Amino acid sequence: MDERANSFFQDDNVYLRSNDYFLRADGLTMHFPAKTDRFGRPVSWIHAADGVSFQVPKGKTMGVVGESGCGKSTVGKMLMNLYRPTSGRIYYDGRDITGLSARERRPYQQKMQLVWQDPYSSLDPRMHVGDIIGEGLRNFGLTSTREEYRERVFELMRKCGLFPEEANKFPHQFSGGQRQRICIARALATNPEFIVLDEAVSALDVSIQAQIVNLLKDRQQESSLTYLFISHDLNIVRYISDEVIVMYLGQIVERGTMETVFQTRAHPYTQALFSATPVFPPVPGGKKERILLEGDVLSPVDPPVGCRFAGRCPYATEQCRKEEPLWSRVEENHYVKCRLYP
Ligand SMILES: Nc1ncnc2c1ncn2[C@@H]1O[C@H](COP(=O)(O)OP(=O)(O)OP(=O)(O)O)[C@@H](O)[C@H]1O
Ligand SMILES: [Mg+2]
Repeated sequence: MDERANSFFQDDNVYLRSNDYFLRADGLTMHFPAKTDRFGRPVSWIHAADGVSFQVPKGKTMGVVGESGCGKSTVGKMLMNLYRPTSGRIYYDGRDITGLSARERRPYQQKMQLVWQDPYSSLDPRMHVGDIIGEGLRNFGLTSTREEYRERVFELMRKCGLFPEEANKFPHQFSGGQRQRICIARALATNPEFIVLDEAVSALDVSIQAQIVNLLKDRQQESSLTYLFISHDLNIVRYISDEVIVMYLGQIVERGTMETVFQTRAHPYTQALFSATPVFPPVPGGKKERILLEGDVLSPVDPPVGCRFAGRCPYATEQCRKEEPLWSRVEENHYVKCRLYP
């Protein structure tokens, strides 16, 4: 396992040479025990993430796409310190923040926030929304007087398209879209620099999704926020992201600037993923033929050697099944992990 992770490192460093990043993941790996023997020792592992490396420049958005179970949330949770990586490192603004103690981590907790998929379960139903939004202000002692606190909560509400008069209402008195606005206001309260948005608009109607994404974009421009935007909705990812990584079974298989990946779709898996979703507006000159995903999604438990997509790939050769592919450069700022590319 370690050898593979190391070789990943070296390949990736070719691409990740630039120092122009704010957040950087270096070979992030997360293995969960799948089965244990009668002494409780693991005998097989779920490879939720395997050698995931990427970097996000300040003020930019990195999109993360891939089928359900490919490890998107696991990567987000490792960055947010909710999972301790099996191996790999996380750098934040030039500092290694992997495995810090709770106390050492505290300043970063203020600067790094997470907005979840589900605005229904992540809001305490017994609290007034004003107090929910102000939670971070209280936790980190960011306001000194009651008046200042109230004013800051009202300002956050206005910025997120909520009415300050409604600060004394409870979450159930709001619509789904408004609840997601509350979650975003709560995340913004601590003046974060980096936000992981994990399926943050997926549960909402299309028209509401657009409003929330625009809200995120506005707040980003205002304070140079850096986002990791996890979603299975390619259209939304395209709209908000500057760069994108495509994940398959715990690994990144393609990455690059949003438009180059969208136009070229180099990896057979990316092609399949895109042909499963109608993309609007249609991509001019994009690949016309449809690749349909054959075979079942492989299990992330002890995945096979070689390319993980080989079992479902129409172009797979014997070599693909035997050896893990290396990274190839498709064009400027666009890389793919596939043998089809020299
Ligand atoms: N705490 C955990 N314990 C054991 N297995 C886990 C745990 N968290 C995630 N997994 C497994 O790791 C794999 C990746 O899960 P993850 O939630 O990261 O996928 P995802 O890409 O976010 O999927 P989705 O699009 O459905 O949200 C899955 O096989 C999942 O079952
Ligand atoms: Mg997820």
